[in-house]
Amino acid sequence: MPSSPFIIVAIDGGAASGKSSTSRILSERFNLLHVDTGSYYRALTAELLRRGVAPGDVPAVKAALAALRFGTRVNGRSSEMDIDGHVAGDEIRSREVNDAVSHFSAIPELRAALLAYQRGQADVAQCHGFRGLAMEGRDIGSVIFPDADFRFFLHADPAERSRRRAGQGQQDKIHERDRLDSSRKTAPLSCPAGATSIDTTLASIGAVVQQMATAIAAKLRPA
Ligand code: DC
Repeated sequence: MPSSPFIIVAIDGGAASGKSSTSRILSERFNLLHVDTGSYYRALTAELLRRGVAPGDVPAVKAALAALRFGTRVNGRSSEMDIDGHVAGDEIRSREVNDAVSHFSAIPELRAALLAYQRGQADVAQCHGFRGLAMEGRDIGSVIFPDADFRFFLHADPAERSRRRAGQGQQDKIHERDRLDSSRKTAPLSCPAGATSIDTTLASIGAVVQQMATAIAAKLRPA
């Protein structure tokens, strides 16, 4: 019997657009490893702040990056990045990290340091017996896996996204982060050509997942 093909599902979008909820559910439904690349940028930001490195000090960022070692732990269906053997906790959702993460993420050398690591998650998924990857972020369908089997771009009305974040009890200037993430020179947040764009403003998570799952299942079904 032929084995199932390995699939990569790229899910991009701005803050609180619905990426995490949908990619988690899709990873369950299709036996995929869930990779939240925002958590990588957040963990790295928390570590650099801990070391007293400012985002404006690029030489210090580069020196710190050269000294850090990245590893991966698979926790259930989720991939977690460890830095020098330590997996960051809730501090990656702190206000300090929320405020700094887009500034660090705009540094090309920092993005370059995570590029191969993110692509390597496909090997991690294969080694752990997953059928593929559900990877969420800002540049997955444009830069990390431009040839992904499925590429989705989620977006929602700004007021609705603020409401979602407030509901999570987080202090997060999401519009400012979106502005910085969309206007940076390297790998800006944008809907890549050919990706399926989905407006999640008025849709339930279940309805959005259904739309994505239907597209995936239709392509996986033998002709
Ligand atoms: O998904 P998130 O809101 O937790 O991401 C936090 C920040 O990380 C986001 O504002 C920009 C950065 N990021 C990025 O630049 N590229 C990615 N692929 C994922 C996140």
